Amino acid sequence: MRILIDTDCGVDDAQAIMMALRQPGATVEAITTVTGNAHVKHVNRNVLTVLDVMGADVPVFPGADQPLVPGYWEAEARVHGEDGLGGYTNRPATARQLEAEPAAAALVRLASEAPGQYILVALGPLTNVALACRLDPLFPDKIRQLVFMGGTISALGNTRNVTAEFNAYCDPEAAEIVLDAFAQATMLSWETTLKHPFTWEQYDALAATDTPAGRFFRDTTITTVDYLRQFRQVPGYLLPDPLAMAITLRPELVRESAMHYARVELQGRATRGQTVIDYMGLLERESNVSIVTGLDTAGVYALYQQMLA
Ligand code: BDR
Ligand code: CA
Repeated sequence: MRILIDTDCGVDDAQAIMMALRQPGATVEAITTVTGNAHVKHVNRNVLTVLDVMGADVPVFPGADQPLVPGYWEAEARVHGEDGLGGYTNRPATARQLEAEPAAAALVRLASEAPGQYILVALGPLTNVALACRLDPLFPDKIRQLVFMGGTISALGNTRNVTAEFNAYCDPEAAEIVLDAFAQATMLSWETTLKHPFTWEQYDALAATDTPAGRFFRDTTITTVDYLRQFRQVPGYLLPDPLAMAITLRPELVRESAMHYARVELQGRATRGQTVIDYMGLLERESNVSIVTGLDTAGVYALYQQMLA
């Protein structure tokens, strides 16, 4: 399995990357970065730190520093800290360098060098992926599968536009371009995230893992966990990007999914960034997303044990 990861490396992105790096039979061949949870300058550093922790060598291509249409994005510091990694204090200096090639150009080049080979896992705002679609209109056809964490499927969001999920909210135009360009993508929504948490007991057990990866997991999650535990409606430790990565690496973990046509609200005064799903087929459009609604959380937990060991 040949994987490209596009990320706005916050806390849960870091875990998704770690999971892929530790999966036998999967090779992460490039990581591209984008502004989202934090500005891309923090995201770049965060990805290099994750590679240091995991002792992995993967080229990192720096990407978009703002959404296609500027003016709406703000960092998600309450969940991910100002640095995107929960105010990670034990961060060692890195000797790693970023690649010179910009993310969207790298995505286009890699897909052209190996058409039909790469699974692209998008864990942040879809700015780079949209730019790649515009740079090369054949880019979507050259990608074997696009899996993305983003969007809502029943208007239960996590942003100030309360029906919109964060990644779609950050760059709605990019999400619309990508959904339009890809004949089919796999979507891991915010509601599916809310349905599949780890219990706090499971979180505590993982955070007690005394390995470099385990200590990194504990140190980078303290801010998020403090924040989330305040909210009674949050059912446990949430796993947005790791769930998207888990179903990529182990598709058999999917228990329930359905094909639908989806697009993105770009105008709504209170709903900009909401994904709009045509459940009734009213638009008579071909389905463009496989929406995952059920998955095997125990299998995801086993992947965490593997990656923190
Ligand atoms: C998504 O937004 C970010 O907070 C997470 O990294 C995830 O990609 C969840 O809405
Ligand atoms: Ca993310």
